[in-house]
Amino acid sequence: MTLESAFFYQAEISTVLTELHKKCFKAAWSNQEFNALFQSPGTVAQILSEKELPIGFCLYRLLFDEAEILTLGILPDFRNRSAGETLLRQGKPELVKKGVERLFLDVSETNLAAIKLYKKTGFQEISRRKNYYREENKRSDALIMQLQL
Ligand SMILES: CC(C)(COP(=O)(O)OP(=O)(O)OC[C@H]1O[C@@H](n2cnc3c(N)ncnc32)[C@H](O)[C@@H]1OP(=O)(O)O)[C@@H](O)C(=O)NCCC(=O)NCCS
Repeated sequence: MTLESAFFYQAEISTVLTELHKKCFKAAWSNQEFNALFQSPGTVAQILSEKELPIGFCLYRLLFDEAEILTLGILPDFRNRSAGETLLRQGKPELVKKGVERLFLDVSETNLAAIKLYKKTGFQEISRRKNYYREENKRSDALIMQLQL
């Protein structure tokens, strides 16, 4: 797979993000929600494409020398082929260019594929929020992870 990333700083990309997000998550975010996120300064979207077809995305919020991953996904048909790893590796230089030194995220302790992806790209667990996520009938902890860029 030859994968390429493009970066967007304005809501022009909201429709693409909405389409990708609803194929990746049960609780889809609306186009209005994506538009609203771009109203805040520091919102950056990364779209990962194969032969110009968008297959993955990552939404970051930058604040001075820190950034947070708000959401990230790879389309189901393209998973388990290191596309997630490529997404994060290609995102890094763009963040560094913007002055980001530390990248944070939170992930459910039950999301084993995501945790594996984050660990293999260098994230380390720095904290935990007990019972943070509601998942069907139970609750799960959020792992807070950090990557030093
Ligand atoms: C998490 C996600 C982005 C990973 O994308 P991906 O392209 O499959 O990522 P990669 O192929 O680079 O790496 C995934 C790793 O998880 C492993 N994996 C996949 N499913 C797994 C499972 N159920 N349990 C444990 N490991 C699993 C893969 O084998 C791979 O590890 P490897 O490279 O050592 O073989 C993708 O699964 C996804 O979009 N999930 C739905 C949205 C989501 O959960 N986003 C993250 C929110 S925090």
